[in-house]
Amino acid sequence: MAYHNSRHLRLLCLTFFLLLSFTAADDAAVMQSFAKTLSPAPTTWTGTDFCTWEGINCDKSNRVTSINIASKSLTGTLPPDINQLSQLKSLAVQRNFLSGDLPTLANLTLLEQVTLDTNNFTSIPPDFFLGLNNLQNFSISFNSDLSSWVLPETLSQNTNLQSFLASNAKITGTIPDIFGSLLNLQNLRLSNNNLTGNLPPSFGGSQIQNLWLNNQLQGLSGTLDVLSSMNQLSQAWLQVNTFTGAIPDLSNCTILFDLQLRDNQLTGLVPQSLMSLPKLENVAIQNNKLQGPLPVFQPRVHSELGTDTNSFCLSTPGPCDPQVTSLLDVAGALGYPMSLAQSWKDNDACKGWIFITCDSSGKNVTSVSFGKQKFSGTISPSFAKLTSLRSISLNDNNLMGPIPKVLTSLPNLQLLDVSNNNLSGDIPVFPNGVRFTDGGNPLLGTGGPSRTPGSGSGPTNTTGTQSGTTKGVSAGMIVGIVIGVLVFVVIILFVSYKCYIKKRNQKQVGNQEKGKDLVKNDHVGVVVDKLHTEGSGDKEMSVFEGGNVVISIQVLRQVTGNFNEENILGRGGFGVVYKGELHDGTKIAVKRMESGVMGTKGLKEFQAEIAVLTKVRHRHLVALLGYCINGNERLLVYEYMPQGTLSQHLFEWRGNNGNPLNWKQRVSIALDVGRGVEYLHSLAQQSFIHRDLKPSNILLGDDMRAKVADFGLVKSAPDGKHSLETKLAGTFGYLAPEYAATGRVTTKVDVYAFGVVLMELITGRKALDETLPEDKSHLVTWFRRAISSKQDIIKSMDQTLENDNEETLESIFKVAELAGHCTARDPYQRPDMGHAVNVLGPLVERWKPSRTEEEEEGIDLHMSLPQVLERWQADEGTSRMFGDDSFSQTVSSVPSMPSGIGDTFDSMNCR
Ligand SMILES: Nc1ncnc2c1ncn2[C@@H]1O[C@H](COP(=O)(O)OP(=O)(O)OP(=O)(O)O)[C@@H](O)[C@H]1O
Ligand SMILES: *[C@@H]1O[C@H](CO)[C@@H](O)[C@H](O)[C@H]1NC(C)=O
Ligand SMILES: *[C@@H]1O[C@H](CO)[C@@H](O)[C@H](O)[C@H]1NC(C)=O
Ligand SMILES: *[C@@H]1O[C@H](CO)[C@@H](O)[C@H](O)[C@H]1NC(C)=O
Ligand SMILES: *[C@@H]1O[C@H](CO)[C@@H](O)[C@H](O)[C@H]1NC(C)=O
Ligand SMILES: *[C@@H]1O[C@H](CO)[C@@H](O)[C@H](O)[C@H]1NC(C)=O
Repeated sequence: MAYHNSRHLRLLCLTFFLLLSFTAADDAAVMQSFAKTLSPAPTTWTGTDFCTWEGINCDKSNRVTSINIASKSLTGTLPPDINQLSQLKSLAVQRNFLSGDLPTLANLTLLEQVTLDTNNFTSIPPDFFLGLNNLQNFSISFNSDLSSWVLPETLSQNTNLQSFLASNAKITGTIPDIFGSLLNLQNLRLSNNNLTGNLPPSFGGSQIQNLWLNNQLQGLSGTLDVLSSMNQLSQAWLQVNTFTGAIPDLSNCTILFDLQLRDNQLTGLVPQSLMSLPKLENVAIQNNKLQGPLPVFQPRVHSELGTDTNSFCLSTPGPCDPQVTSLLDVAGALGYPMSLAQSWKDNDACKGWIFITCDSSGKNVTSVSFGKQKFSGTISPSFAKLTSLRSISLNDNNLMGPIPKVLTSLPNLQLLDVSNNNLSGDIPVFPNGVRFTDGGNPLLGTGGPSRTPGSGSGPTNTTGTQSGTTKGVSAGMIVGIVIGVLVFVVIILFVSYKCYIKKRNQKQVGNQEKGKDLVKNDHVGVVVDKLHTEGSGDKEMSVFEGGNVVISIQVLRQVTGNFNEENILGRGGFGVVYKGELHDGTKIAVKRMESGVMGTKGLKEFQAEIAVLTKVRHRHLVALLGYCINGNERLLVYEYMPQGTLSQHLFEWRGNNGNPLNWKQRVSIALDVGRGVEYLHSLAQQSFIHRDLKPSNILLGDDMRAKVADFGLVKSAPDGKHSLETKLAGTFGYLAPEYAATGRVTTKVDVYAFGVVLMELITGRKALDETLPEDKSHLVTWFRRAISSKQDIIKSMDQTLENDNEETLESIFKVAELAGHCTARDPYQRPDMGHAVNVLGPLVERWKPSRTEEEEEGIDLHMSLPQVLERWQADEGTSRMFGDDSFSQTVSSVPSMPSGIGDTFDSMNCR
């Protein structure tokens, strides 16, 4: 009885403690049921003090942190409520005979290691991996009693995964395309399952080193092309699948040492780059349909080539017969189709090669007949090396690209049929006597005037040819005319816009006294234009280089009073900011830095970066007007923001004899910042990330509207990669956890920092306040804990905010909720900036007369045209800009164009 009572007492205390802290829970029940189901249970697994059991570790409050019962010949099951062990970091039960359904581990957010391999588990629940935000190493290999399961898409949320080992684990379905999110993944082992489908594109650029996908029951299929961009690959096991196509160029896989490709359906030549891989030691390619010369690897490489199971031309190294070589080029342009690879082997094209006919001597190839083979690809110019060819039939396939002109040189050619494909380009002029048929290629011959009338129309032309040709010409003419007219209209519009801007600026400069009613952005324009025109004659004032605004040091000295102490606006981590005033009274801010602070960047890189930054213009981004390089110094010229930083108004207003910001101003600032950052993120496929958003980088105008400043840290990510690994930049207190932990940047890093700024606006407290006790010093941690109820929010609000107005309070609650959302630990749970803007928009509009808002946000379509062209120009060669969503976003979110931008087009002179 006494024992019972004391236990009750303990339970009571526990419950009380639980109510108090919301953290502690009793792991005893789970551990007891675990001990019961194991057979034989480990000898020490008796009694209530489970923390002393063998293989169990606990923390100070007796919560289980790790379980290790590996290799103990145990039978039994895992307890169904094991995910109540909320402090569990490691679960190691490998190499036993455990069976039954695996319980879910969902929401064990601390869990890092899970090893389940070599057991007899019978099923894995679909929500098994949900919320395992810290999962690093997972293994379930060799559980062949599992019922079949698929790899869940949600694995993309387990962003800390380093190893995912699930060979012989009854996996079916495809490999989900999630590896763009699993940036820490190094080991992926999925051998001996029943995976099907293609290799996911997101393998490209991943950090995977150890890739085992071999021996799938039915077989993975498609090409291996994505391997060429898996630069970290060191071991790739892809054998026993149904991969097709050629072995890709793996020259970037510089640390690859083991490549297993045997037993697939690979075709084509073994690339030279594979033979010269510096670290290769092991390669197996037998049992494919590889063609061409026998590859020769360096002596250190152990290779299994399959001279008799592939389609190499010779069983010894050395070049193939010239006709064979040319025909393999022809096959290569078609992607080495399997049907050819099966038959086109050995070194004599006249011995049983499908689709090939030779002359009576059985030596020279006279015809190639590829009609109706569903081939895609292009027509190889190497046809021209087969000089005995009389007839080439390529009709009724899906061939693209041009008809190589060199085919006109084939001396014996009598027939060339390319009808019913998708060819384009000019139609070469064949000699009389060649029967040339090209009908049913809508894009062919639309290249313009170079096409001579009657070309390709030898006397023996069929009627089909002519009708096909006529159709091609008329379609071509229409497309040509439409394009021509469009280009003309765009040029006319652009030139007249530019002239309009020039005129307007000149007028404004002339009318400076009356210029008070100009909107702020026009002032910016005046500044630049002024700098540009002032130096008339001596060119000292301003030079335009490749569209950049270069401003001379003399001008900057002059306008800052020789960098007078009195003109210092502030000091940042990267340099001193001076105020400058032009002769007409327009103000600028000059940031003066040593070149070293821009990193190890060279001059070219600096200029390139500035070239981009000067083009980023938005109502809520502080405009970079120009720059100057003076010896070791780099100077950046910004638009001047008269009310200084948000941090001054939020944290230092007492010292400055100012007033605290009211809530209307705060929420309007939040919206401005949101819009500015949203615009940055919308540029060029999300490749602009601020990385250092904080109140000292938010500047205010006299109307207390905000602009985001300090693009020194903005980097554009490489193509196709929305996240880049760079050295950590940013400020403690605002760093998203995944950024701090891994240094990898996505737009969600800015969303996090924005959430912190929202918290600062609500509480009036700094993100990191070391003067406060430890549990309060980090704003995010404290705020997220503090805001569980509306009363709590009212308590934690900045004391200067009025808390009796219901409308204000509702607005604050909404912003608090948004702040919590933006600072979610998991970047995938954070909204994007567009969402934040949508939440804040209605809160601000409520305070404003709607007319002003409309005027402010009005989109001037005339104004965005040069922006379109500019971006087009800036991204020349990357035609992806068009037809891309972010493009239209960019256009529509540029509310107005500062007139200074017109000056970046000096190549078009209207004066
Ligand atoms: N365009 C501007 N107009 C008015 N004041 C400015 C302008 N730019 C900067 N300042 C002032 O200069 C100070 C220093 O700015 P700077 O961008 O160098 O540093 P920071 O943002 O405070 O910190 P960090 O360099 O670490 O990002 C700012 O705090 C602000 O007071
Ligand atoms: C995990 O947490 C989410 C959200 O808190 C909840 O909806 C879900 O039911 C939990 N899953 C389990 C298995 O506890
Ligand atoms: C359990 O799995 C092992 C391999 O993991 C296997 O050898 C054994 O036959 C299985 N036992 C049962 C009862 O399924
Ligand atoms: C393997 O996967 C394929 C396709 O998903 C399926 O049709 C087949 O039944 C699976 N085979 C086994 C043995 O599970
Ligand atoms: C190898 O990497 C370089 C640089 O990233 C790239 O330009 C090149 O195209 C890559 N080569 C292949 C075969 O992918
Ligand atoms: C085969 O071609 C070669 C060169 O292309 C030529 O010299 C030879 O005469 C040809 N043989 C026959 C039988 O046409």
